[in-house]
Amino acid sequence: MKLLKLSHMALGIIVIIIVIGVIIFLSISFYITMFGGGPFVPTPMKAVHEVLKHAKIKKGEKVYDIGAGDGRFIHFAEKDYKAKAIGFEIDPFVYFISKIRKYIWGWKGNVLRANFLKKSIKDADLIICYMLPRSLAKFQIKFEKELKKGSRIVSYAFHIGTMKPKKVIPKNGGISQIFIYQL
Ligand SMILES: C[S@@+](CC[C@H](N)C(=O)[O-])C[C@H]1O[C@@H](n2cnc3c(N)ncnc32)[C@H](O)[C@@H]1O
Repeated sequence: MKLLKLSHMALGIIVIIIVIGVIIFLSISFYITMFGGGPFVPTPMKAVHEVLKHAKIKKGEKVYDIGAGDGRFIHFAEKDYKAKAIGFEIDPFVYFISKIRKYIWGWKGNVLRANFLKKSIKDADLIICYMLPRSLAKFQIKFEKELKKGSRIVSYAFHIGTMKPKKVIPKNGGISQIFIYQL
């Protein structure tokens, strides 16, 4: 009887720890959604391939996804275009999903748990982004300060502040506009 009571207590403690863990994870995600570059909304796979096609990636180019989510852009940039692809992901929960994609699904590329604003992007040949316009407008300063001449930015769905795109691919069915910039 005493043993049964103890095991019930242990189970209760485990449940409480899990609930607290989930609350902490969700609070961090909520904070990032409100004050970071925006929430995790994955780009539809069809659009991922379309963006990468228009990015015209050459073998060995350094590609960054500045808010990588589960790492889908960097996976296909490496797999289909042989790029050296790195993603930054600020949200620990989403970062954890990217690790599942990598180690269980075998996805390529490397997602780092980091705020991209604190990382250097000086060696980038291509930046990929799918972020809210208000965040992109803030990021423009970093892009213009750090990116080398000739490097490209491909932004899915939203334009970047006052930067003038080299090309805009119009909306096509379920695929939003694609903005292409060249420094
Ligand atoms: C709209 S989602 C896009 C995810 C992925 N690139 C895709 O297209 O499927 C934007 C992601 O950027 C992440 N993020 C927002 N601000 C960030 C920052 N400052 N540094 C790194 N990641 C950031 C969010 O956590 C979110 O997962």
